[in-house]
Amino acid sequence: MSQAKRLSGKTAIITGASGTIGAATASVFAEAGANVLLVARDESKLAAVTQTMPASQVSFVAADIATAQGNQLMAETALQRYGVIDVFYALAGVTGPMKPLTDVTEDEWDTVHNVNIRGMWLGLKAVIPLMRAGGSIILCSAGAGVIGVGLCSPYVTSKHAIIGLGRTAAIECGPKQIRVNSIAVGGVESPMLENYSQQAVDDITEGAATEANPFLARIPEGRFAKPQEMARAALFLASDDSSYCNGSVLTVDGGLTAS
Ligand SMILES: NC(=O)c1ccc[n+]([C@@H]2O[C@H](COP(=O)([O-])OP(=O)(O)OC[C@H]3O[C@@H](n4cnc5c(N)ncnc54)[C@H](OP(=O)(O)O)[C@@H]3O)[C@@H](O)[C@H]2O)c1
Repeated sequence: MSQAKRLSGKTAIITGASGTIGAATASVFAEAGANVLLVARDESKLAAVTQTMPASQVSFVAADIATAQGNQLMAETALQRYGVIDVFYALAGVTGPMKPLTDVTEDEWDTVHNVNIRGMWLGLKAVIPLMRAGGSIILCSAGAGVIGVGLCSPYVTSKHAIIGLGRTAAIECGPKQIRVNSIAVGGVESPMLENYSQQAVDDITEGAATEANPFLARIPEGRFAKPQEMARAALFLASDDSSYCNGSVLTVDGGLTAS
């Protein structure tokens, strides 16, 4: 089979697929031959993203993955439209507030955890029983899932929890011939990173104008990633190229967490 068609005959679900990384991943998965169901809440954004992709392979469903109903709708839609589920990439995530943990409100904490970790668990509950053997599940963690980062405790704790969820799921799903791996996504050129960096700069400088990016300074590679670089890492985990990877955490961060 050619490298370009590594997902030929497979069906993939991607949550958070209208976002920067999700849209790039949907495109790479479709190019690799997969049928792809894109999931997010905002239907108009999903429609805009899918417009550039082949309609015979790519479709979307609007669903809130923070709810059990949303995840059920997602899984059942994939099965109805494509007949099988081979790949589940749980990518949807939110960053939440940047402030000392003592100032985080209960609502702020719950909002981040409801999407990033509780929603992901609900997604696994909905999808795992419907996946066929040989499947691959990918959970989106972050650099903040393997190291501490000040001023974003809801996000950091949710991204750490994802790695624990992935390892547990890997043990439980192995006998079903379904692999589960996490990606610790590093900084990607994206609105999410821009907002985050700006908040950090504002906090460090207390409003003084500066071009310095506190995250960039920590990356040995000296640059943020293109969304396609994250998509290609996900393609590796989605495809049979990673057939003996289970319970792993793939860091794709230009060396951010190496030290
Ligand atoms: N960008 C980075 O530098 C970076 C770094 C490390 C990790 N990550 C992680 O990578 C993932 C994607 O990042 P990104 O930059 O592509 O983010 P993004 O552009 O903000 O996209 C987020 C996606 O998640 C969806 N989403 C949010 N809440 C949802 C919900 N309750 N139900 C369904 N969909 C929901 C959004 O669509 P709707 O709002 O329409 O629902 C959107 O499609 C996140 O998990 C993030 O934590 C990103």
